[in-house]
Formats: sequence, structure tokens, C-alpha cells
Amino acid sequence: MALRLRSARAADAAEIAALHLASWRDVYRGLLEDAFLDGPAEGLIRQYWREALAVRRRSGVVLLATAGGDSVGFIAVWRDGPTAFIDNLHVRPGMRGAGIGRALLGMALGRMQGQGCTEVALVCLAGNAGGLRFYRELGAEIGPEEEGETFGQRVIERRCTWDRLQDLLAAVSRAKVR
Ligand SMILES: CC(C)(COP(=O)(O)OP(=O)(O)OC[C@H]1O[C@@H](n2cnc3c(N)ncnc32)[C@H](O)[C@@H]1OP(=O)(O)O)[C@@H](O)C(=O)NCCC(=O)NCCS
Repeated sequence: MALRLRSARAADAAEIAALHLASWRDVYRGLLEDAFLDGPAEGLIRQYWREALAVRRRSGVVLLATAGGDSVGFIAVWRDGPTAFIDNLHVRPGMRGAGIGRALLGMALGRMQGQGCTEVALVCLAGNAGGLRFYRELGAEIGPEEEGETFGQRVIERRCTWDRLQDLLAAVSRAKVR
């Protein structure tokens, strides 16, 4: 089924929030508290995306991937000076490993390069082995475990960086033709 990537609109907030929550409940089970994942996470994530897509306070890119009319993944990247900060990248559980994450990354980073970004950074939960593997294979420099916070939850995370955005873009395109 053909993959389509497009900029997210305010009307996509509920769909993106649902994808985000489904991915968190799948991957972050055991890393974030069940009481949070099954409780306040839903309302907080829905509110976050309603606000983030309604009022664009930050410059950056939010893309939604669809296949056959269904949403299958999304990415949010914000500009922080010269750095493209990847805040969210999620592919629907059951649809992973098919190149959707790399496609989202490639298009979002191409746009951030166009906005003048030259470096890339993100934080990944230290226990998210699949996520770290994905970024390591794309050449990330992965930092030590550090305490962090997400939606009010204390977490242990690792910072992943690329000094040159163009290196990550090249790695993403190399992977696509494999
Ligand atoms: C990490 C993620 C965005 C990658 O997107 P994807 O579409 O699954 O990945 P792609 O198909 O583009 O690339 C595949 C690579 O991703 C890695 N990978 C990570 N999780 C994977 C999974 N569940 N299934 C398959 N590959 C996975 C592998 O390194 C794989 O490389 P390989 O095929 O050479 O082994 C996606 O798996 C996902 O949403 N994971 C859960 C949420 C998450 O961890 N997000 C990152 C938070 S910082």
C-alpha cells in the first residue's frame, strides 16, 4: 500500500494523539508507570497535540504518514538554533520495520535543513532498545544515561546526536535503497 507523507494540520490532533498513545502503551510499558500510561497519559497527550497543532509557537515540522487512508506514523521536529530536535517519532505498532520511520525522518530532516538546521539531537528512553538500535544504525552518537522528565514522569534517557544533519540524511537515504 502506498505510503503518503504530509504536513500535519490542526484537524489531525486527535489522530496523532491516538497514535502517540498506542505507541507509548506498546513500547514504554515497563518504562513508564502503568498507572500513568493507562490513566492521565491519554488526556495529557490529547491536550498536548491540540495545542501544539493549533498554535504553532515553535518553528519546525510535524508530518503524518498514511497508508490506504489510515495513519501509520508521525514525526515532530522543532528548531533549536542550529539544531533540529526530534521530539517525537512513532510508527504504529504492527507497521514497524517497513521503512516508515526512515521515510518520515528523511522528509522532516530535509525540511529542517531548508530552515537552516545543521545538527540533529533527540532524547530516547534508556530502556527503549528498539529506538536506540534504530538511531545507532543511522550513526547517532549516543550519550550516557541521564535523568529526565516527560509529561511529568521522571525517566532515564540517553541523548542521541549527529554533529552534521547531512550525515543523518545520507544514512537515511542509504538505508532506503537497501
Ligand atoms: C523506532 C521507529 C520510529 C523506527 O521506525 P520503523 O518504521 O520501525 O523503522 P524502519 O523500518 O524505518 O527502520 C528499521 C530499523 O529500525 C530498527 N527498529 C527499531 N524498532 C524496530 C521494530 N520494532 N521492528 C523493526 N525494526 C525496528 C531496526 O534497526 C531496523 O533496522 P534493520 O531493518 O536494518 O534491522 C519505530 O520502530 C517505532 O515507532 N518504535 C516505537 C517508538 C519509538 O521507539 N520511537 C522512538 C522514540 S525516541
